[in-house]
Amino acid sequence: MANRSLLAELYHLLLDSPVKSLVYIVVALIVYNVVKIAALAIYNLFFHPLKDLPGPKLAAASESYRDWYILKGSLVYQELELFRKYGPIVRDGPNSIMFADPQAWKDIYGHRTGGKPATIKSIGIKPAHEGHEMLEFIPSEEEHGRRRRLYMHAFSDQSIKKQEPMLIEHVNGLVEKLRAVTAESKEPQDLVKWLHFCTFDIMGDLAFGHGMGMVGTATYNPWVAAIIGSFRAFAISFVLTRYQPFAFLMKYTYLGTFVQKAVDEHRRFAQTKVDERLESDVDRPDIWGLVMAAGPDKLPSRWAMHEDGMLFMQAGTDTSSTLLCGLIWWLLKTPEIFAKLQEEIRSNLGDEITLEKLARLPYLAACVEEGLRIHPPAPPGFNRKAPPGGIAVCGRFYVEGTEFAIPVYATSHYEGNFALPDEFRPERWLGDSRFASDKKDASQPFLYGPRNCIGKNLAYNEIRLILAKIIVNFDLELDAESKNWMPHAVYGLWAKPPLWIKFTSRD
Ligand code: HEM
Repeated sequence: MANRSLLAELYHLLLDSPVKSLVYIVVALIVYNVVKIAALAIYNLFFHPLKDLPGPKLAAASESYRDWYILKGSLVYQELELFRKYGPIVRDGPNSIMFADPQAWKDIYGHRTGGKPATIKSIGIKPAHEGHEMLEFIPSEEEHGRRRRLYMHAFSDQSIKKQEPMLIEHVNGLVEKLRAVTAESKEPQDLVKWLHFCTFDIMGDLAFGHGMGMVGTATYNPWVAAIIGSFRAFAISFVLTRYQPFAFLMKYTYLGTFVQKAVDEHRRFAQTKVDERLESDVDRPDIWGLVMAAGPDKLPSRWAMHEDGMLFMQAGTDTSSTLLCGLIWWLLKTPEIFAKLQEEIRSNLGDEITLEKLARLPYLAACVEEGLRIHPPAPPGFNRKAPPGGIAVCGRFYVEGTEFAIPVYATSHYEGNFALPDEFRPERWLGDSRFASDKKDASQPFLYGPRNCIGKNLAYNEIRLILAKIIVNFDLELDAESKNWMPHAVYGLWAKPPLWIKFTSRD
């Protein structure tokens, strides 16, 4: 009865004075949120099981601490600051801990033995169709392992050997085009753009059965431009969907519709391309050719191939081109190191450059490894959760649901792991005694364990090939405008500004 009269009163209030009641509703919502946030902060700071771990109080009190830095694009630098201030284990959120200790790679991401449960991958974004996830976002370890095994052969050394002529043809195309463009104009070229063209052309060939034709036309395919242009919007919308009323309002805003449209178009394009490739009769050693050769009973489902075709294009393009941009920038900033690398490459390869010859060059290998350490293409942490029953990490037990991550950039720049961490020193990978105390296994740019990068081998070969072909064919000079190219923002991936480089053909 009392309830009914209260409801009746509210009803009358709403009808009598809609503006006044709207104000009441807004004030009530604000008060509710403030009380909720304050109560949670008190619990997180004084009663939470992680309360004794070092870290900033604001981070312990609220998720918003990390979100603020994600929105600013500076989370990776902030994570490094925190390690420098608090040491290798930091509570960086109410329920999350980040580690810079290399042992944590094994404990959090490593293969499980003796029936121990694995940590759970925190997916973060909801897949388009539940149960129809791309490989990277399959929640179950068993199912992920099953799908991944169907692709392992396509990324093996044997398969890369078969793909070598195609890789060389694409990189030769890049060299020829750069030669032609720089013969016409002595203006510096944007390396970010050229390496996007080349890596997307290569991956298009491997994942869709034909290149994207971007090196040839020297222009971004609109689909590729949309992928690259949406990184920042993705990161921002990812954060905003954690907060009401933004989550609710997102679908009515430009940002929300932009992100949704980008995802839908990306998916449609990839589906069409994968279908065209699967239905064509050609016999070629691209990813689908190699997967199909294993026999019809070893094929993923059609929807899985659609999703994974899209994943290969996302995961295997900007990453390799970012590494090459970062590495070349560092080489041009350290002329004595660059001279040593030029000498090794120009005097050891003979007339024909092959992947096998490149894999045998020790200084090249050290430069690539150091490039991956100092400029990891996927720089944030990849979150995992403690499984039912909890788990021990670096000797301490954590209860079910605790969140962990090893932030890739911050861990490989932390003084506790590497001497002179902000300097580009390939010698550290060649046994130089000045770096004897380096914890080399702290640098894991491809991640660690059963969910690490399936394209690691391909990436190493592609990176060595592109770098060597550029060095053999051109002298390079960093344009004054790009002297301070680093540091720049990160929105999940590096938001690379143009990298202006002057190319002079050696012919
Ligand atoms: C320097 C280049 C590259 C770097 C640094 C890199 C890094 C990574 C990282 C950190 C992950 C783990 C992501 C996660 O757990 O969510 C990953 C996964 C993955 N990468 Fe790469 N990647 C590179 C190149 C490539 C290439 C060339 C391909 C080829 C298609 C590729 C395909 C994949 C795939 C399919 C996954 C998901 C694997 C799984 O969940 O089992 N990546 N990569």
